[in-house]
Amino acid sequence: INSLATYRPKLHFAPKKNWMNDPNGMVYFQGEYHLFFQYHPDGTTWGPMHWGHAVSKDMITWEELDIALYPDEHGTIFSGSAVVDWNNTSGFFPDEPGLVAIFTHHLDGTEERPPVQTQSLAFSHDKGRTWTKYEGNPVLGPDTKVDFRDPKVFWHKETEKWIMSLATGQTITFYSSPNLIDWKFESEFGEGIGSHDGVWECPDLFTLKIEDSEEEKWVLIVSIGDNPEFDRGSFTQYFTGSFDGSTFTAEHDSIKLLDVGKDNYAGVSFSDIPDEDGRRIYLGWMSNWRYANQVPTDGWRSQMTLPRELAVRKVGEDYKVIQRLVGELNSYFSEKVDIDECIVEGTKTIKVEESYVDLTLNLERVDAEQFGITVHHTKEQHTTITFDSAKNVLVLDRKKSGQIDFSDMFLLDQEVKLENTDNVQLRLVVDSSSLELLVNGGEYSLTSLVYPDKACEAISIHTFNGTIKAAGYVSIPCK
Ligand code: FRU
Repeated sequence: INSLATYRPKLHFAPKKNWMNDPNGMVYFQGEYHLFFQYHPDGTTWGPMHWGHAVSKDMITWEELDIALYPDEHGTIFSGSAVVDWNNTSGFFPDEPGLVAIFTHHLDGTEERPPVQTQSLAFSHDKGRTWTKYEGNPVLGPDTKVDFRDPKVFWHKETEKWIMSLATGQTITFYSSPNLIDWKFESEFGEGIGSHDGVWECPDLFTLKIEDSEEEKWVLIVSIGDNPEFDRGSFTQYFTGSFDGSTFTAEHDSIKLLDVGKDNYAGVSFSDIPDEDGRRIYLGWMSNWRYANQVPTDGWRSQMTLPRELAVRKVGEDYKVIQRLVGELNSYFSEKVDIDECIVEGTKTIKVEESYVDLTLNLERVDAEQFGITVHHTKEQHTTITFDSAKNVLVLDRKKSGQIDFSDMFLLDQEVKLENTDNVQLRLVVDSSSLELLVNGGEYSLTSLVYPDKACEAISIHTFNGTIKAAGYVSIPCK
């Protein structure tokens, strides 16, 4: 099969050619969303990192532009963020506001010394098309810590300072600055809390509205690198709590996962979304370090998740980050195939032969022991999502989804414990080589790659030992 065509996503960003990992420098400026990304322009596996660049009007259709940042004497270009310097705090913009990128310079280790990671700046006067590196680079580091990277910067209105969250080994360190150039240590977070299964990477700190209230919560996202001792690969956790301009305090001891699937990593949010819009929009790298370098695509590797709007929901005494796909996605669908309310016992199949689909479905358990849906990619290839009412779990099984034999971990079921399975709401977007499942209004997100010969031939609803009530619709592409 020609995997160049087969696996290439219709709705997700993927580079035209060669290797991509983390989203970087996501920022909205003068009518454009910018997506920079970890990019290796000379191969389809990870290598000396550059910042690739794409722009979009709606975060779904992206135009890939020239490489934004190239390696230099300080090293290759690792992950980081971008902001609009509206008030020329940096002095780079005497005439009109522009973009500043804050990123990690990485120098490989040698026989004499370990790797060196420092934070540097570049600025652009032409909407991100060309960049000038700051002559005083680096602006922060090196440090005694070898892992000292992935700066995410935002303007903290209350203290009128820039705040940088930086991944520093297995903690996040916060720095502040009046001008993006001079950085002062504020505090360090993470000792003895959260998951320490691997190195901490790609932090992001922001406020989110609490659903159905006027209140907000501070949320800190932290990605956790792959650790060969465990079979989960790389994943993302978050903390909810408070931030006073200097210190972040988490309000819980439990480990909270942003995505219970295997393929959502290093995600961060857009900077400078206008106040009138008010959304906090996030997207991640849709892969897993355990097998990212082996996935069976030709000529290009990796894609991003769909953009998602984040909020916080109070569940009991706990606060959960919930995710919804951005409304911009709706204009990529025109028709609907209705699934009228019905009782299902056994299997009900809906034929939808499309290159991508968006399914909305409510499943109400009557007495089925197990129930769920299967996406039939082709006659032989399928992915199954099952709810087990005795165990209260949701399981995604991709063992028969197509090409699977490039990694043992790809075969493992993706499973999450739910409060109950009496009434589940599903939203599932199926593209050429991915499934993004949001359960119960985005309380759970399960993002999973698959490599079938075709996206979708049919969707079936099925039960085991009993019945369920089902209703919903499948949205299909514009013709
Ligand atoms: C996360 C990461 C970052 C680093 C980048 C290098 O996936 O390891 O910590 O900056 O990738 O490409």
